[in-house]
Amino acid sequence: MHLGRTTLSKFLIQQLRGGDDERDLAALLVDIAAAVKAISSMTSKGALAGVLGSLESTNVQGETQKKLDVLSDQAFINTFQLGGLTAGLVSEENDQPMVFEPSPGEVNGRRYLAVFDPLDGSSNIDVNVSVGSIFSIIRAPKGRRVKPEDFLQSGARQLAAGYAIYGPSTMLVLSVGQGTHGFTLDREVGNFILTHRDIQIPTQTSEFAINTSNARFWEPPVQRYVQECQAGKTGPRERDFNMRWIASMVADVHRILMRGGVFMYPRDTKDPSKPGRLRLMYEANPMAMVVEQAGGLAITGRERILDIAPEAIHQRVPVILGSKEEVDRIARYHQAFDTGTDEQYRSPLFKDRSLFQE
Ligand code: F6P
Ligand code: MN
Repeated sequence: MHLGRTTLSKFLIQQLRGGDDERDLAALLVDIAAAVKAISSMTSKGALAGVLGSLESTNVQGETQKKLDVLSDQAFINTFQLGGLTAGLVSEENDQPMVFEPSPGEVNGRRYLAVFDPLDGSSNIDVNVSVGSIFSIIRAPKGRRVKPEDFLQSGARQLAAGYAIYGPSTMLVLSVGQGTHGFTLDREVGNFILTHRDIQIPTQTSEFAINTSNARFWEPPVQRYVQECQAGKTGPRERDFNMRWIASMVADVHRILMRGGVFMYPRDTKDPSKPGRLRLMYEANPMAMVVEQAGGLAITGRERILDIAPEAIHQRVPVILGSKEEVDRIARYHQAFDTGTDEQYRSPLFKDRSLFQE
């Protein structure tokens, strides 16, 4: 036995000491950890548990639901409903928010709203590549029933946020606004153990992550950034870059937290009705909090993600996050493009110079 180890519960008790409110937040995070353990167990059994493959149904985004999407959603919903601490929830898998009434005799301790993506990167399930869960906790209104608008709070108001990654090991990475910390699941004992205290994203990096099959739909500042990375030693950056794309946001962001890098799912013109692919409330906001709390930055290209005032629960946004110096550079490229202050964008040669321009 390693009695000196810090379990998730011990860590949260030590970090959240501010009275009943913080004690309940710690309890809620322990509940989330329990749902994560259930999902981790299902994902690790894979085909043996008959959980792979798709269902007939589609979710609100029009995406085909995988069996594990629905099972993971159910694990979170049960946790939040039965746990007695959340007054309502929003899930990627459900069109409308769910609102919970206090059950008879229950002291109204339902102080929180939970917003989550139960199984992110689910196209990777059937090919046995890492997937994850993402969650965000915000405050519920006091003394009245929850309304749908109550969920529309900017990311800066998140009380806690994080993700679980179901990889070779299962990890829970979270922030309650006091740094970002990582816990690894000790499967035999069933405890999350603090293994990565106060994660810091290196400010510089030579690694980028983007789905380059969309290159022709990107805006010029993103094309410029990627082009300069690809030009390597012989280009303006004067060093070689490396590229990675797992197509599980959780896994790509986790790599960035561990060793630096920049992740982009930028605005593109592929589908003009969508300003980006990723969802603000349960993908961009929680990841932005975790990344900022680890010393990184998270922007749309033009504004800080955590400052966006949400207009709809399933709203999409462009996402650019990771190592501070690179994200800063990409923000400057957007600004130069928008204001026409960069020679590169004034030149009639720009069209010809771009590798990706049609
Ligand atoms: O939830 C959306 C998501 O699956 C992310 O996890 C991932 O980063 C992205 O979509 C992958 O997109 P694409 O299929 O375009 O590579
Ligand atoms: Mn997702």
